[in-house]
Amino acid sequence: MNFRKKIFFFLLIVLGFANLSHAQENRMWIPSEANFAYSLMVESGARFSKNDLYDPAKPSFNDAIVQFNGGCTGEVISPYGLILTNHHCGYSAIQAHSTLEHNYVADGFWAKSFDEELPNPGMYVTFVRKIIDVTDSVLEGVTNDMPEKERQSRVDANIQKVKKNMSRKPWQDVEVKSFFYGNKYYAFVEETFKDIRLVGAPPSAIGKFGADTDNWMWPRHSGDFSLFRIYAGKNNRPAEYSPDNKPYRPEKYLKVSLNGVKKGDLIIVYGFPGKTQEYLPSFRIRQIVEKVNPLRIAIRDKALEILGKYMRSNDTLKLKYTAKFARVANYWKKWKGENVGISRAHAIENKQYLEKLFRTQMQNKNYSASDKAILDSLRNAYEQLLPAELARNVFIEAGYLNNPWMQRGFLLSIALQKVSDEKLSEEQRRRILSSFKDSDKRVEKELFIAMTKMLKENMPEAYLPGIFKNLIPEQTADWMMQNSALTDRKRMEKLLDLKLSDLQSAIKNDSGVSLAQALLFEYNGKINPDYQSAQADVNRLMRKYLKLQMELNPVARFNPDANGTLRVTFGKVEGYDPRDGVHYEPFTTIDGVIEKYIPGDYEFDLPESYINIYKKKDFGPYALKGTVLVNFLGTAHTTGGNSGSPALNASGELVGLNFDRVWEGTMSDLFYDPKICRNIMVDMRYILFIIDKLGKARNLIYEINSPKNN
Ligand code: ARG
Ligand code: ASP
Repeated sequence: MNFRKKIFFFLLIVLGFANLSHAQENRMWIPSEANFAYSLMVESGARFSKNDLYDPAKPSFNDAIVQFNGGCTGEVISPYGLILTNHHCGYSAIQAHSTLEHNYVADGFWAKSFDEELPNPGMYVTFVRKIIDVTDSVLEGVTNDMPEKERQSRVDANIQKVKKNMSRKPWQDVEVKSFFYGNKYYAFVEETFKDIRLVGAPPSAIGKFGADTDNWMWPRHSGDFSLFRIYAGKNNRPAEYSPDNKPYRPEKYLKVSLNGVKKGDLIIVYGFPGKTQEYLPSFRIRQIVEKVNPLRIAIRDKALEILGKYMRSNDTLKLKYTAKFARVANYWKKWKGENVGISRAHAIENKQYLEKLFRTQMQNKNYSASDKAILDSLRNAYEQLLPAELARNVFIEAGYLNNPWMQRGFLLSIALQKVSDEKLSEEQRRRILSSFKDSDKRVEKELFIAMTKMLKENMPEAYLPGIFKNLIPEQTADWMMQNSALTDRKRMEKLLDLKLSDLQSAIKNDSGVSLAQALLFEYNGKINPDYQSAQADVNRLMRKYLKLQMELNPVARFNPDANGTLRVTFGKVEGYDPRDGVHYEPFTTIDGVIEKYIPGDYEFDLPESYINIYKKKDFGPYALKGTVLVNFLGTAHTTGGNSGSPALNASGELVGLNFDRVWEGTMSDLFYDPKICRNIMVDMRYILFIIDKLGKARNLIYEINSPKNN
């Protein structure tokens, strides 16, 4: 290559990779490897020390942050183990404690003393105390040409060894996780607390104000928060629930600030992002946009149309199906936004350009032919994956999630496979029967018909069980309404009362159960195994693809995809332009809540007491220029799992609570575009305002701001 050509390629590569790995600040950093990130934070105004961010030896921010019940984030905000998280993260607990007399979902809940706090069996929170790079130990003895199976068992054995040898306290656990598709491994020393009690929640009219209509959207006006408390056993250690447990005395809690943030201010979001896939090749993104998302969206379109129709027709049905509707609508809306965002950000073209660079770089290096053909092999592997992946999605969406009769049939079949006694256990019985709670026959029948049609139309030929081929959904549904135990609680109870042998022969005559069994059999026997083995191939090639990229570009900073481990990300408070001619400011106020208010509406209603407080402008110390700020936007890179993450200001004080992203930017899981990707937070002053003025929970205000706390 001549000199000019060399310079040209060098520039192409540097510019290209700068582009690939978007702006440095919009990344999810591993806290133990955040030296560079910290220096960027300081450039943006951070005034806390590097050791505040993460310090394995002394209390640091990570010691105040928990993974909340497996899927969300929460943070400790008082010396007595008080935890702040989202309303939607605590929702099932709030709902579980609600009855017609004490409807905490509708009216909110505020414990006025420790005694009034409500235990939640099964709920847990996990602290990460230490993070250690264990790549060398985990990959010890692993070679490039090892067969995949052998490699895997070697890695598994090494992980066991790492776990065993890791120094930890008796009450701590060690988890080892793979990063960069298995190019790196980190160990996490963790503490899990299992006595978590509900302390406070606003009425859902505040906690999920705007519900599905506003979900994933800006401008937003939601008070999406709830409060819990960690209880500890003897010596402040983790313990199972006991009335004798005491409020946990944390090593560290976050200091709450009433000062808020301004446009352009630094914010740090610290939590447990679940899953991103930022290194996918262009052709994989194309598959997601053109095949996977449209299929899932179409199935959910149908399910939501049916649920929505019945919910609008009748208030009882609305109540029964709101939670279900919200769950289905959440990712339905996200996938739609994702597709729009991918196209607007030119994600596919961008990746194609980088792949061209990659190929050019590879040509000039001494790599094997198979390494040089890595992108072609990956393309093949993804093509192999697609049919099984689509089948798996059809099964999950149309056969399971949105098809209550089949879902119940699976529960029954699985219970029967596991039964060892004369009869099903009480627990198995209870689980099957509880699936009739919040159900309605008309809705379930219509879902069955629509979803079974979807199954027949969308399941790749090779994966459709024979029994479905000639079935006429309407006729089958009518028959099932008359005869099947899957459609009727009384019939199911009778069935479950039978001795096992009688039960087995009774279900032979229930063609509803036979359908479910055939579907489950197909899934376990073919769809899922095919999917898993194709996915393993993809992962192996992705591992190699990433390794090559890192070798070719040793100076570029590669950041690992989110994988449910603790990450710190930062950005600034900033609005965005969703479309030509439209600009969004980064703040909303209580005046906007009142503007959206629709009396009696299931999404935009408000409690009378809230309206009264507003009319009196009784905003206390939470006011700013005669109003209260409600939500604000930032450029931090977040994803599902970051819900409930603290947003810290430049001094490391808590100013916001992360809960969502904007619709135009939900493709950030695949391709982050700093122009339109934004995270959404609740302003801490709004949270305190609600606790204080609406909840009148002075005890909590005192606890959060107590002199000991500041
Ligand atoms: N979109 C947010 C997230 O993915 C909030 C979801 C809860 N709200 C709802 N209406 N479903 O978790
Ligand atoms: N709402 C999401 C969550 O609950 C956060 C996000 O996807 O931005 O984790």
